[in-house]
Amino acid sequence: MKKNNYYITTPIYYPSGVPHMGHAYSSIIADVFARFKRNDKCNVFFLTGTDEHGLKIQKAAEKAGLEPLSYCDKLSKVFRDLTKKLNLSNDDFIRTTETRHYKSVNDLWNKLTKSGDIYLSKYKGWYSVSDEAYYNDNEVIEKNGKKYSTFSGSEVEWVEEESFFFKLSAWQNKLLQFYEKNEKFILPLSRRNEVINFVKSGLKDLSVSRTSFTWGIKTPNNSKHVIYVWLDALTNYLSALDYPNINGKLYKEFWPASVHVIGKDILRFHAIYWPAFLFAAKIDPPSRVFGHGWILSGDEKMSKSKGNILNPLEIIDNYGIDELRYYLMKEVSHGSDGSISLKSLENCINSDLANNYGNLCQRVFTFINNNCNGSVVKNKNLSNSDKRIIKDTKLLTENLRDFMDNQNLNNYIKSVIDISFLTNKYINDEEPWKLKKNDVDKMNNVLHIALEEIAKISILLNPIIPLASNKVLDSLNIDSKSRNLSFLDGEKIIPDKIKIKKLEILFKKIT
Ligand code: ME8
Ligand code: MG
Repeated sequence: MKKNNYYITTPIYYPSGVPHMGHAYSSIIADVFARFKRNDKCNVFFLTGTDEHGLKIQKAAEKAGLEPLSYCDKLSKVFRDLTKKLNLSNDDFIRTTETRHYKSVNDLWNKLTKSGDIYLSKYKGWYSVSDEAYYNDNEVIEKNGKKYSTFSGSEVEWVEEESFFFKLSAWQNKLLQFYEKNEKFILPLSRRNEVINFVKSGLKDLSVSRTSFTWGIKTPNNSKHVIYVWLDALTNYLSALDYPNINGKLYKEFWPASVHVIGKDILRFHAIYWPAFLFAAKIDPPSRVFGHGWILSGDEKMSKSKGNILNPLEIIDNYGIDELRYYLMKEVSHGSDGSISLKSLENCINSDLANNYGNLCQRVFTFINNNCNGSVVKNKNLSNSDKRIIKDTKLLTENLRDFMDNQNLNNYIKSVIDISFLTNKYINDEEPWKLKKNDVDKMNNVLHIALEEIAKISILLNPIIPLASNKVLDSLNIDSKSRNLSFLDGEKIIPDKIKIKKLEILFKKIT
């Protein structure tokens, strides 16, 4: 993959219920990185989709009284519709029930069989349908006569059946070497240690087929078996690139993936099983797995099975999509868990969006439209405070690419909001309304600098709040091709003589 190409994915979600805030959260994170990279002139491919096989889905379909495929058609569409509501910029939406995916999974399975990494035996052990995961004895506890996974808390059942196995144990050392060599394969770093410890404690071979139900992709060599839903699901990241057509444009440009964005609940699958499958098939592993934390409601994980869900659609209708996107990115970003509530959503909208960025744009636009006929001309003589804000902004923008490259959205947002804060303060200190009476040249410089700052902040916030930031950039008459990050390399954004349009209110303050 060339340096300028960037392939980013979300998990493909189980359509076993309607999407909730956790799904929205992962998707928005991935969208923010995708948009940032596009704005930084990268060739981006951004994938999301639905994971439609396995016992969990078969049971959900039965409960709904539908054939599995009709059930998935219906629910997958709800997830697809959500991508629009969330204003995601995904380039593709994959379903594991599609022909292209079957082809790709079959090919991978055949490769694993050919390399001698798959053998037939019998599985005896614990299985969680809710997680679609196998657990060891030491990962299971008993409560009121039922057994639960200590890892996820979900109920497990005892399974004994004929099964194909993948020789995961054979890849233990290779995996450990791989983590060692690629220090940032797993981010945040705290999660990396968790994975390394788990692998060091010893990997057992992995059951990769089931015979006790039918809803899945049949193994090519034995139609009694369906392929384990995780081997099936992970392969989606290849299917969307038209694998096994490895000489095709998509695969050549975008594999290996730059980053799989996932929640920490599914880290083991992505950071252990997935690279091991790929090693065995002689395919390069992805460059990174970013396992973000959980959105909590109170102190519990928000999840379908717990029923403690904040509905993203209701929040979007009541507060707006940019508002939700900004809040989720600001509040619970860099890998740790975060509790969300309407109260903190409202505080966040008021403090950062309405009072800070929104107010900055509004006061500058209104002043220029009311007092300068919408035009500002820059002149050469910069004052010390002009120079200071230019320098401070440069300092605050220096690490932004680095933050994004390390999935550090918290520091990214903090820096950008600091620029907005500084610009508001600069206007308070320079008082253009007074300069208008006695130093029009100076007033022009102050306003020009304010507009340049607003343009930078808007481009930097664009991946997070695309709608509002584009309104501002429209009103600044900046064409869409120029809404990129080349100002980080010293290029100017707005011309010395600039004419602006009117700007409507961006964010309503919540009282
Ligand atoms: O695991 N907080 O699908 P899934 C943050 N199909 N993120 C959350 C969340 C929460 N409370 N709840 C869910 C699957 N998520 C598999 C994935 S990928 C090849 C197959 C997000 O519907 C988070 O990204 O259970 C988590 O990893 C994912 O949804 C699980 O979605
Ligand atoms: Mg889940």
